[in-house]
Order: sequence, then C-alpha cells, then structure tokens
Amino acid sequence: MHEGTTLPPSAPPTAASGGVMNGGDAEAPREGERSALGSPHGNIASRIGNTPLLRLRRVCSSLPRGVELWAKAEFLNPGGSVKDRTALSIVETGIREGRFGQGKVLLDASSGNTGIAYAFLGAMWGFPVEIVLPRNVSPERLRRLQAYGARLTFSDRLEGTDGAQLLARRLAEDHPDLYWYPDQYNHPANPLAHYRTTGPEIWRDSCGLVTHFVAGIGTGGTITGVGRFLKDQNPSVEIVGVEPASAMHGIEGLKHLATALRPGVFDERVVDVRLSVETEAAQVMTRRLAREEGLFVGTSSGAAVEAAIQHARELERGVVVTLLPDGGDRYTGEKYWEDPNEGRGGGAP
Ligand SMILES: Cc1ncc(COP(=O)(O)O)c(C=O)c1O
Repeated sequence: MHEGTTLPPSAPPTAASGGVMNGGDAEAPREGERSALGSPHGNIASRIGNTPLLRLRRVCSSLPRGVELWAKAEFLNPGGSVKDRTALSIVETGIREGRFGQGKVLLDASSGNTGIAYAFLGAMWGFPVEIVLPRNVSPERLRRLQAYGARLTFSDRLEGTDGAQLLARRLAEDHPDLYWYPDQYNHPANPLAHYRTTGPEIWRDSCGLVTHFVAGIGTGGTITGVGRFLKDQNPSVEIVGVEPASAMHGIEGLKHLATALRPGVFDERVVDVRLSVETEAAQVMTRRLAREEGLFVGTSSGAAVEAAIQHARELERGVVVTLLPDGGDRYTGEKYWEDPNEGRGGGAP
C-alpha cells in the first residue's frame, strides 16, 4: 500500500515490497533487492489505495451554495472495491504472524468483495484461498472468484452474510490444521487499514477541510477506521453511518445492524449520526450516478450518496465526503439499470 503499512526492510514480503510466497511459505525478498528495471519490483497490490476524491455536482445541484459533496472512488482499486484495503491489511498481518506456513488455507466469509481481494492476493503470492459466501452471490462476483482460482463454499442464501460467517467459523473450528480464519468482521487489521490509508488520503485530498464523512456499514471497518483518523485530526468532523432501512434489503455489502450479527470491529462510538436508506432510493441514486456523473458504481454507493445528500441538505456550509465502495460491473444483472423509456419510438437502432 503506501504510508503507514510500510514494514521495516527486514520484514516478510508485503504488497508494497512485492514479496513472493510459494506453497504457502513466505519468502522475504532480500534487503535492497532491485529488479532489472532498477526499482523494487512492482505488483498489482501496489496499486491498492490512493484512489481519487471526486467532486459530485449534478446529483447534488440543489444543495445550499456553501456545501460541497465529494466521493472517494474505491471501485478504482485493482480488485474493484474498498475491500482490497482490508484484505491486504489482513494478509500482511497474517504473513507477519507466520499464519501461512504448511500450505494453510486462508478461509473467510464474504458477500464477494473481500473474497475477490483475498483471491487475487492469493493468486499473486501463491497461498490457497477459500471463501464462504451466500449461494445467491451475483454471477459476476462468482466468475471473478473462479477466475482467480479461489475455492468456494456456499451458505444458505436466506441467511445472507451472517450465515456465511457462521459456516466459516464452524469450518475453521472443525479443521484448525487446515485453515487460517482471520474473520474480517472481528480482525483489528480491518479498521486499521482505513485508519492508516483511507482516512489519511481523505484528510490529505480535502486539504484538511472535510467537515462530514458519510459511509455505509458492512463490517464497519471503513467507518470505524476513517472516523477514528478524521476525529484524531479534528474532533469536530461529523461521522455519519448509513444502514439499509429494513432487514430484507437489496443493498449488497451493508448490514441492518438491529437484526444482524454484530461485527466486532464496528465501533459505534465513532458514529455521530445514523441514517437509513430504502433499497429503492439507493437504486435510483445508483442509476443517477451513472447517468448524471458518469460513475458506474454499486448499490451501496448509491445508498451512501443518497444519505450524504439527505444530510448535506440540512447544512449551511460544509465539505461532505462520502465513499463509493465498488463498481457497477458487479451488478449488471440488476433490473434497476433498465430504463423504462428505452426502446420507445420504434426508430432505427
Ligand atoms: C459493496 C460494499 N459496500 C460497502 C461495504 C461496507 O464496508 P465495511 O465492511 O468496511 O463496513 C462493503 C463491505 O463488504 C461492500 O462489499
């Protein structure tokens, strides 16, 4: 990654150092090692983080003059989501702690994005990855996981990510010699990734002017890590958490906390305001982001922007920052992309 996760030169391989792992055993690159191109060899994980902060204009044109809305484009991470940061941070911790010895399999539950990130890191560094995910995972996510060669285990679709989490826990307890189960919902490296990278990037790119941070809550890693960092810089920055309005919702990646398993990494003391968003409102905003801002993003991005606008409407002045967790390529089968007016008129194609 970049500042904050850089390990001392004697440490095991990291994404930043371009380390190599074979058969599950870490091989540290020699200190000062250089490639033929003259610099420490690069790899795809070195592109995780440092995503751009984009100004939104058209979807929020009705906001008061003194209020600006900015969005951090996490779909530009190499695995396509904010969860690249979490997975890299967890894998780096695992390497440091020697968790990958004897071909141990990294096992975790995911609704897809963290799984994709683990899977490409595993393919690159040569450690096996097994993801437990609800059976109704989108075909786009499934293909990508298969492309990286991850092993997949399915949990009951009706039990959502909670069911996947419980099944992963049981597998890890039953086969402790086979698996390393970091458990992204309870691993401190999850919020730490955001404390060390996402938060500082937002602070830097907003020139320290950010007044509000609005983000969806899944594991709670993003909002907890970013929230803690921003409040350490300026305690008056307001942190706004976004949840689906009901237990049965269609906002992939977010949890309805009142009815879901409580993620251990989520620190609710960091959150000043909690807003809920209906699935339909999130979908409408997701479509507007594509058509009015040129941003092809996932439904949880629509939820975050919808909530950010709701909150920003009440302000007189402010620099409101939100985060777009993943891209629309993972949701191409969703009906809400279809335009009800499309195909009318009968003209030539
Ligand atoms: C699409 C999407 N949005 C939002 C989130 C929430 O992020 P966090 O787990 O950091 O709370 C996730 C997490 O999996 C996600 O996949």
